[in-house]
Amino acid sequence: MSSFQTRDSMKKRLVRRSEMVPCKSAFIDTHTPGSHLKDNFSIIGPGVTENKEQFINIREPHGFNIGAAGQPPRIKNSLHSHFTVEVFMIHEGTFEIYWGLKGENHTTLSEGDVVSVPTHCFRGFENIGDKYGFLFTVLGGDDTGGVEWAPQVFEEAENHGLVLLEDHGVWDTRKFPIPDGAKRVLPMSHEEAATYDNYSSDEMEKRIYRSDSLKPLKDHPLQSGEYGTIQLHRLIGAKDTVIPGGDGFELLLSLAEPGGGFEDFSRPEKEVLICHSGSWNVEWTAEKQKGSFVLEAGDLFSLPAHVGRSIECVGKQEGSLYFVINKDSPKSPNWIN
Ligand SMILES: [Fe+2]
Repeated sequence: MSSFQTRDSMKKRLVRRSEMVPCKSAFIDTHTPGSHLKDNFSIIGPGVTENKEQFINIREPHGFNIGAAGQPPRIKNSLHSHFTVEVFMIHEGTFEIYWGLKGENHTTLSEGDVVSVPTHCFRGFENIGDKYGFLFTVLGGDDTGGVEWAPQVFEEAENHGLVLLEDHGVWDTRKFPIPDGAKRVLPMSHEEAATYDNYSSDEMEKRIYRSDSLKPLKDHPLQSGEYGTIQLHRLIGAKDTVIPGGDGFELLLSLAEPGGGFEDFSRPEKEVLICHSGSWNVEWTAEKQKGSFVLEAGDLFSLPAHVGRSIECVGKQEGSLYFVINKDSPKSPNWIN
């Protein structure tokens, strides 16, 4: 029996919302007014943080990285770009997502909305609601290549004493002199930044799922194991999605009334469940061991490949649950019994 298939190691793959550890100095803009109060979370995978001390709940590579951002009202996440696709899933609050070299384009996303922002495009987001906002992020790939900041973000950071050093990460020059021999990561030139892609609002809208306009899949691979009142939506993937795929992972969303669920199945890919709302009971079976966890809003559970699982919406309210699978065209699930 491999060691991960034990009750203890399964428990280590469960991350409660309360166990997600914020880092307040993950990035270069951490002293810039308007961006200084943001929390950054690295939950699965090596992450993209610029602070080497950031806590990561599950380091094991999954083919994607899952993180989160938490921001009080009016706090911004500065304009940056990534080398792989970045998906935002709004969990709590209302955010304005903006993009383009100066963040000149924008749209408002509410709880349950999802956007997939393409590579080579500057994006940022501001909590425009009146309570703490929290969104999950999925970045494609194990090695995401890190963050590319818009040049003005570096300039603003330096005005507040922060520079980025190659081997040290974010460095506060007002507290410590730059170590001898340390190399600074230089900001991107304005000329290079001007070559980055931009998208009209209509183009970006094609990469957004609005939670009030969801259309459930009629035929889907989990259908034969469905029971009760439950719907499945494919938000991102290779086919039958509105958001284009090719991101290396599939993102499904299941909505159910209490008592709705999926019977026992396994799949050959790793799968991460993220509870957006309601309560979901997940029962797993591996090498004759069984266990179960109830996921509440904001909790996350990573299932290893080939482990059996049944999933049911429990409690009193309707639930919604994301599935992140580490292939953009996952194989059909294997039904158990
Ligand atoms: Fe990002």
